[in-house]
Amino acid sequence: MAAYEYETHDYDVVVVGAGGAGLRATLGMAEQGLRTACISKVFPTRSHTVAAQGGIAASLSNMGPDHWQWHMYDTVKGSDWLGDTDAMEYLAREAPKAVYELEHYGVPFSRTEEGKIYQRPFGGHTTEFGEGPPVQRTCAAADRTGHAILHTLYGQSLKQKAEFYIEYFAIDLLMSEDGRCEGVLCWKLDDGTMHVFAAKMVVLATGGYGRAYFSATSAHTCTGDGGGMVARAGLPLQDMEFVQFHPTGIYGSGCLITEGARGEGGYLTNSEGERFMERYAPTYKDLAPRDYVSRSMTMEIREGRGVGPDGDHIHLNLNHLPAEALAERLPGISESAKIFAGVDVTKEPIPVLPTVHYNMGGIPTNYFGEVLNPTEEDPNAVVPGLMAVGEAGCASVHGANRLGSNSLIDLVVFGRAAAIRAGSVVDRDSAIPTPRTSEIEKSFERFDALRHADGATPTAELRLEMQKAMQEDAAVFRTDKTLKEGVDKMTAIAGKMADIKVTDRSLVWNSDLMETLELTNLMPNALATIVGAEARKESRGAHAHEDYPERDDAEWRKHTITRIDGAKVDLSYRPVITAPLTTEAEGGINEARIAPKKRTF
Ligand code: FUM
Repeated sequence: MAAYEYETHDYDVVVVGAGGAGLRATLGMAEQGLRTACISKVFPTRSHTVAAQGGIAASLSNMGPDHWQWHMYDTVKGSDWLGDTDAMEYLAREAPKAVYELEHYGVPFSRTEEGKIYQRPFGGHTTEFGEGPPVQRTCAAADRTGHAILHTLYGQSLKQKAEFYIEYFAIDLLMSEDGRCEGVLCWKLDDGTMHVFAAKMVVLATGGYGRAYFSATSAHTCTGDGGGMVARAGLPLQDMEFVQFHPTGIYGSGCLITEGARGEGGYLTNSEGERFMERYAPTYKDLAPRDYVSRSMTMEIREGRGVGPDGDHIHLNLNHLPAEALAERLPGISESAKIFAGVDVTKEPIPVLPTVHYNMGGIPTNYFGEVLNPTEEDPNAVVPGLMAVGEAGCASVHGANRLGSNSLIDLVVFGRAAAIRAGSVVDRDSAIPTPRTSEIEKSFERFDALRHADGATPTAELRLEMQKAMQEDAAVFRTDKTLKEGVDKMTAIAGKMADIKVTDRSLVWNSDLMETLELTNLMPNALATIVGAEARKESRGAHAHEDYPERDDAEWRKHTITRIDGAKVDLSYRPVITAPLTTEAEGGINEARIAPKKRTF
């Protein structure tokens, strides 16, 4: 192996990833005077949060009555009772505070006539504990909310003197012998130098792994890098079988058309021009949660009522809405529809199809963002020195299905929570750990082996095989047969990593090598997804199993814990946290209200 030299950097906290969660954590850490570095493989404001459109959920009551308890209830029900109740309560209670903080940092929210933050309806957000009409809870900056948040948080982080390491690729976590995270090894993409970041706390904010699939709304950078690093460190992933399909990806390109389009009055139709959601979700119709709507659309297509020459997609209608409203509230998607579907939304419907959008599963954490390594004795055991936030993490507030606009609020609430926690657990006076040489060398060996990999399978070819297998076998609807085939295919595909071919051996702007490293991260995420799905013999949230169409709380109300070693996957389970943080007497929720029941809309 070639000898690699490296530079060492010492920090109290190192955040890996500069999307909404990473930047909110970075800002909160730096505000408290912790020496904080934020490492990102792309320029911060190009992180995938920039693509978030419709908004951020918080019970501000700007457009009508709302309450954090109603938001919590909707989140519990949306999760199909797989979310951890303490984390869901924390999310809903802290959401208004977190949004007002964003407003004060300078996020340019859209406004009501009275100058309040504008809020729109989103699927699954209701009033009166799911008994009342839909609520306008999603705070929006037109349909570019993520863009507005990301730019504001980056500016604020710079103001607080957080230090940014931009276009650095995180290769591996550096763990101590007794299981503490002590830092991360990185490759600087523009000059090929190597860097060890030593820290008292490492925060993984690396986003989801949408690119394990063929068609996704996720950026090409969404390669599950945090999950990959965690898996290689011998730590588990949680609930990976729950993959969200957004109902309205543009047919063909997969580009997102925000749920805000339906929030503003848009509706779906089939080839007969029928508003079919009325049949599937008589109360909330097009504003039912995403898993519901995606399944309904898929059923329409399967039953021969899809639109287009091949009858393989659905129409999203906005052309009945006033052109001024479309220009003011939905300018971004009006442009996307023109560019990616050639459609003028004021005149024609947009061709859409359920498209992979979000990973409910991820690195297990508590609601402070601390990473868990569950054991039989302690299902909530914490990994010292390691946190995970945002889509990379699994707190778990989304359980089996996430509500639209609960992602942006997850990013800021838990980015903020991680900073608050780090403020109390990181000892500013203690020495910064020195990562073990053996750990650094192990990681360099892996890097070097990939750099010189000379097998027969080019990275792009293997990645495509994986994406096609996942798209086909871990889809909206699943069966024992497709899942079994998926496990076999993915096991064989993961095995082919040993035969990978990298052509470019250089260290400067070597996208061939970077994409190969990314593939080594996508692979464990994909494997965990398909194996976890094959094992779960019920239907819950986004896991719609046709051989087991009912939810089975007695057997399956539990988190899937997956440990991966190469192509080998080991499954165990962890109990769901069912107790809320506070009781009704303390202003909290009534436990009986959130007990599992049939999920109808
Ligand atoms: O539809 C959207 O605007 C996406 C929002 C989300 O995933 O939360």
